[in-house]
Amino acid sequence: MSESYGEKNPALENALSKSTADFYVPDGRDVLSRMDAYYSWVKSRVRTNTWQYSRTQTSRPGPVITATDAGGRQMEGVNFASQDYLGLSAHPDVLKAAQEALLRYGPHSAGSPMFMGQTDLVPQLEEKLQELTGMEHVLIFPTGWAAGFSSLTGLVRKNDYIVMDRLAHACLRQGAYAATANVFKFDHLDHEDARKILASIRAKDAANGILVVSEGLFSMNADTPDIRRLQEICHEFGARLLMDVAHDLGATGPEGSGQLGIQGMKGRVDLVMGSFSKTFAANGGFIATHSAAVKEYLKMYAGPYLFSNAVSPVQTAAALQASRIITAPEGAGLRKLSLGNTLHMRARFASNNQPCLGIAAPIVLVPVGGERHARLSHSLLMKKNIAAMIVEYPVVPLSEARIRLQLMSTHTIGQINHAVDHICEVLDEVRKK
Ligand SMILES: Cc1ncc(COP(=O)(O)O)c(C=O)c1O
Repeated sequence: MSESYGEKNPALENALSKSTADFYVPDGRDVLSRMDAYYSWVKSRVRTNTWQYSRTQTSRPGPVITATDAGGRQMEGVNFASQDYLGLSAHPDVLKAAQEALLRYGPHSAGSPMFMGQTDLVPQLEEKLQELTGMEHVLIFPTGWAAGFSSLTGLVRKNDYIVMDRLAHACLRQGAYAATANVFKFDHLDHEDARKILASIRAKDAANGILVVSEGLFSMNADTPDIRRLQEICHEFGARLLMDVAHDLGATGPEGSGQLGIQGMKGRVDLVMGSFSKTFAANGGFIATHSAAVKEYLKMYAGPYLFSNAVSPVQTAAALQASRIITAPEGAGLRKLSLGNTLHMRARFASNNQPCLGIAAPIVLVPVGGERHARLSHSLLMKKNIAAMIVEYPVVPLSEARIRLQLMSTHTIGQINHAVDHICEVLDEVRKK
């Protein structure tokens, strides 16, 4: 059912009000039956086409996509909602490598890497990641989430401290609280705030460990910390720095080295983790370290490494082939196209008087404001056959919703212009409501 928002419409009003924060602590003591209020709110959003989640793609995640939303509405149009920054998921060499791995090793790993689930593709992928990060040792995980969660739960113990950027990814936040109750957050990108927290910890405790956590490119803000300064501050207080480079490694920087390379910090950060689910056209993740001991320790003490099956051979082969392209001149060419697309999109928004957040990166974020406007934008963009991700709480703070556009090097200028112009029209329309 399609709803108009011109006149009073109770179903739509219900869908546009509230947020997931209202349902986090449901009423009742039966843990299974107390989700009904949330479920009926979700259904009202699905019915009114204001539920931006759970869309199903029915084709490859390319610049053009066919997809179906949770209410069964179909769209075919331009796609800025997939994290395939260099377009490698459609690269013939990546597809061929994945196919060959499927035929040679079968579809799954059939075991934890500690119990013979690892294929001989994995050490090759580790080597490529060593080259990309400039770190001597790499450990591969079945997802980036597992790598992030493990980097904290594997290394940090209950008397230790985690000091993290307030906006660090959920796998790091959840890993932090699973590792220790001593979790402190510093204001986003504010290394002086991090310094104050570190100083106050060290004033009371000189004996236990501190791991500081940040990201190379924050995907909800398209910004980056001063990595060198942050690490200097860490070392002043005997703390170590972990950088999550999920969004920038491969997609940006010299030879695909991301913000580490751009900021002259490749191979110089204490600990690095990342994901293959963006630029590397695969599922999987990694932790990179300078220490053979840290790698060996994580194999035994990172739960998702010991107790979960190894990354599948098909995904390993895809990530390996993608990383070969990323480090080759072809990768440099794709990054050049990607940067050109980014700069063009940002300029096109600017010429429509629409600001974007952050720096030039393959993620362009357009602030929308309230959840109400964001949900209406989703409905209108779907009608215009534009796939973009509407991001609202809990992914970003309440009342700070935004449209997230993820660019691929394979997008055309025509597709970018089409999307930007329609998005600006949609925003003009919803802001009048
Ligand atoms: C910054 C960051 N870290 C980690 C992850 C988790 O990666 P994966 O999707 O491979 O589990 C993501 C993915 O959303 C991410 O954006």
